[in-house]
Amino acid sequence: MISEEVKARLREVAARYPQARSAMLPCLHIVQDAEGYVTPEGILAVAEAIGVKPDEVESVVTFYSMYHQEPIGRTVIKVCTSIACYLHGCDETLAKLERRLGIQKGQTTPDGRYTLEGVECLAACGMAPAVQVNGEFAEQMTPDKTDALIDTLEQHGPGAIRNYWRQISEGRGMATETTLGSVGATAETGAPASNGNGNNAQTTGETKSRGQRQKGSR
Ligand code: FES
Repeated sequence: MISEEVKARLREVAARYPQARSAMLPCLHIVQDAEGYVTPEGILAVAEAIGVKPDEVESVVTFYSMYHQEPIGRTVIKVCTSIACYLHGCDETLAKLERRLGIQKGQTTPDGRYTLEGVECLAACGMAPAVQVNGEFAEQMTPDKTDALIDTLEQHGPGAIRNYWRQISEGRGMATETTLGSVGATAETGAPASNGNGNNAQTTGETKSRGQRQKGSR
């Protein structure tokens, strides 16, 4: 259910644009943030706010992998599977993540902590293979870095990833508990997804594969 407050926010954002339809992407972020994913009601609300047909909004939702049409985990890990990342071993990274989280690509862990996705180019081809965690990049992934990434998420939650990757990219090795703690990361509680038997950008405009679009539009 889209609240009146959210609808007012949609109208406010739409009014900032010379053509209201140009506000489609930020409006979709608003409804997704409000409900955790883009519901059919969210699509209708956005369509009404910007004056387009719901079909047009849905076609955008199903095109971009940053929008979800079903509940997702609190931490969303996206692995680029396009050509540059493929040539640099993204399959190995993806397989490692699947083993660590105990889920397959496209799935969410039963505890709702992680969603793992394979996506088209994340526009970080020069640093392949590339991964995004809640919109933050982790690049040039190796099996060791993949382990360190999950360890960091387990210990400090998704908020720690920005600092984690800064250290990796500056060649200072894996993040330490002390430095990660300094960014005010919040540790999550619950069963660890790292036990191997698992049971879970928005700035780049990353798009969905054909299979994802078909799945999302059902
Ligand atoms: S091919 Fe992977 S980021 Fe472009």
